[in-house]
Amino acid sequence: MVSFKEIGLVNTREMFKKAVAGGYAIPAFNFNNMEQLQAIIMAAAETKSPVILQVSKGARNYANQTLLRYMAEGAVEYAKELGWEKPQIVLHLDHGDSFELCKSCVDMGFSSVMIDASSLPYEDNIALTKKVVDYAHQHDVTVEAELGVLAGVEDEVAAEESHYTRPEEVIDFATRTGCDSLAISIGTSHGAYKFKPEQCTRDPKTGRLVPPPLAFDVLHEIEKKLPGFPIVLHGSSSVPQNYVDIINANGGKLPDAVGIPEEQLREASKSAVCKINIDSDSRLAMTAAVRKVFAEKPGEFDPRKYLGPARDEMKKLYMDKIVNVLGSNGKA
Ligand code: 13P
Repeated sequence: MVSFKEIGLVNTREMFKKAVAGGYAIPAFNFNNMEQLQAIIMAAAETKSPVILQVSKGARNYANQTLLRYMAEGAVEYAKELGWEKPQIVLHLDHGDSFELCKSCVDMGFSSVMIDASSLPYEDNIALTKKVVDYAHQHDVTVEAELGVLAGVEDEVAAEESHYTRPEEVIDFATRTGCDSLAISIGTSHGAYKFKPEQCTRDPKTGRLVPPPLAFDVLHEIEKKLPGFPIVLHGSSSVPQNYVDIINANGGKLPDAVGIPEEQLREASKSAVCKINIDSDSRLAMTAAVRKVFAEKPGEFDPRKYLGPARDEMKKLYMDKIVNVLGSNGKA
């Protein structure tokens, strides 16, 4: 058993309070390899932004749970080396699906966990979330829960249909579970194919899909019911079309990939939404950079020569999100 405090991490409590009051959101970036982690820490250190490092169950299976946890510990030291005196870094379990998984993360030094029991019946979601909260809070670890269902595919989480969070349930849910933040469903979705073409319109000039707008009315209803309570948006990649174009021009095939427009995320950041999850955009940045190197230099076989440019591209992306979308720069 190791406490997150011993390894220099922080939980989300103060971070979210400030973000809600200050009208900005904290970036929650997923990582499962070294280059992603370096890029996240470089971007956060350079912009002095609090940051949430997210590890999913799939990432733990891919990279090894122990290795990822020690990488996060190393990230705190690396941030200091980069001149960030008091790094505000959270290590968070993304989409925990059982009490045992959440407990194992708490016990190995995570400072925040998500229990996603949103696919269970309402009362079962409450019971499992409360069980995780009761354990995590004994160790001062904060807990994110979810109400409502997001469509899309992400690692081991998949749902065909979404249904919006019901505002009439949120007070009861938050009170009875004691969760610290709530992920809601207002039309975001996991992955690079967030919407089917039939859900979108098409821009006649560019031929690109225009997604349906997020349900801000649902968000505002929830905010009214739970004033100041930290709200989380999953599935918030914007699927930058420049990356999609580079990928498609260099042997890739991502037809009609579409994400959440950044203006809408900017608007959400000013509300009680204080954590925005971004994973797919970093995958796209990495893939675009690697494909470009492979296409331009077919003789290249030193991984540093293609993973290095991928890291640079991800850092650029993370900085852009922090400064131009979430507004969390200078807040740590
Ligand atoms: P994206 O697939 O939109 O990046 O969402 C990631 C996410 O919500 C992780 O939980």
